[in-house]
Amino acid sequence: MSDNTRKVTIKAFRFNAETDYLPYYKQYEMEVGKDELILDLLNRIKWEHDGSFSYRRSCRHGICGACAIKVNGKATLACKQNAMELLDLFDNELVFEPSSKKRAVKDMIIDKKDFWDKHAAVTPYVVADVEAHPEHETKQSIAEFNKFLDADLCIQCGACHYSCPALEVNPDYLGPAALNAAYRFTVDTRDNAGKERLELTSQPGVGVWDCVKCFECAEACPKEINPIEKITKL
Ligand code: SF4
Ligand code: SF4
Ligand code: FES
Repeated sequence: MSDNTRKVTIKAFRFNAETDYLPYYKQYEMEVGKDELILDLLNRIKWEHDGSFSYRRSCRHGICGACAIKVNGKATLACKQNAMELLDLFDNELVFEPSSKKRAVKDMIIDKKDFWDKHAAVTPYVVADVEAHPEHETKQSIAEFNKFLDADLCIQCGACHYSCPALEVNPDYLGPAALNAAYRFTVDTRDNAGKERLELTSQPGVGVWDCVKCFECAEACPKEINPIEKITKL
């Protein structure tokens, strides 16, 4: 083992909703290099140890949001996270789990239906009357654009949503990602659906009043969006 590699133990959550009654953890040993990402370790479990191991990934550049998992309980975007940084924190033992164990379909893959339903509920697009053949662009000032710029960086990875304790106890709560999307489009000067969105996001039991201001969503977000700040503004 050189200075640039470490012997690592990985315990991975395994579950196949079609065949398993209960989940279990399987252990893998490997030598990890200093430049490897958590996604590389997921790939190596599949390619070198067990071809049935399942997880989502697509872009490998922190854009598609598919590879969000939890590592030792910490929300992690697998293709952005250097493995050595976590090995320093967790003493060469890593535990890979899906973002939400109770929603596991196969290993790291979860059913994100509740996430997408809530995203859709806030009308996550600009609602505007646009002429069929416009002759000029709808202009915005830099200040108007900057109001929603960081909220617009959301990649819908679900890391905040599945770290939110308010959602754990109240499944009707919209949650940080949907509320971030509601904010992003409501402050957009081109949008005309702000009133309808705010009627939804101010509903008791559903909207902003159920946030307990724990900042877990800000901690979890790999794009440093800080959803709680947007919830406060809503
Ligand atoms: S700050 Fe609010 S939205 Fe964010 S995780 Fe905590 S309860 Fe959920
Ligand atoms: S706000 Fe951040 S953590 Fe939440 S879904 Fe968007 S990118 Fe992921
Ligand atoms: S693979 Fe697309 S964000 Fe990680």
